[in-house]
Amino acid sequence: VIAPARAFVALVHHPVYDRTGRIVTSAVSNLDIHDIARVSRTYGVGGYYICTPVQAQRDHVGNVVGHWESADEMATSRRVEALALIRTVGMLEDAVDDVRRACGGRPFVVATGAARRPGSLAAVEVRRRAAEAAALLVCFGTGWGLAEEVFGAADAVLDPIDAGSGYNHLPVRAAVAIVLERLLAG
Ligand SMILES: C[S@@+](CC[C@H](N)C(=O)[O-])C[C@H]1O[C@@H](n2cnc3c(N)ncnc32)[C@H](O)[C@@H]1O
Repeated sequence: VIAPARAFVALVHHPVYDRTGRIVTSAVSNLDIHDIARVSRTYGVGGYYICTPVQAQRDHVGNVVGHWESADEMATSRRVEALALIRTVGMLEDAVDDVRRACGGRPFVVATGAARRPGSLAAVEVRRRAAEAAALLVCFGTGWGLAEEVFGAADAVLDPIDAGSGYNHLPVRAAVAIVLERLLAG
């Protein structure tokens, strides 16, 4: 079992695909800032990395978080508690380095995607391997999904969520919730 505080989420905005299969940098979505922070806080994860090489986008995230931190209302305190998990970094490797510094060793890095890939691991196997590592970093895509090089650089790929309906286009926010339930709950 991996302690949730040693598990981290990364939301990657580059390199990801666009709908034509080109590698692009996607824009940070406000929904992703708030909802993934709340899901992360709910599961007790150690941090939520928003990875974008665009400084203006990182500044935007900082402004959103700062806005809520400075709101003088008890009603916003739960939101702030979740947003406090957010760290902005340029690239996924920066998130890996940050986790390594915080946890004293390289995290087990897992990529996610909707398509089935050869050699992907079941959640139970990811849990087992992560428990042997200093930490776990689970990477999610934006746009039309993580670029091939992210899968190549990861230590493992998690089996896709497949509800058997033939429709497999989850919003990333839902995918994060389901994956954290599989990897961290119980
Ligand atoms: C490609 S982005 C889609 C962004 C979209 N604009 C949205 O509404 O969120 C979705 C990400 O969620 C995760 N995801 C989606 N479906 C999944 C599945 N079936 N299994 C595992 N992860 C999935 C992956 O990380 C994927 O890169």
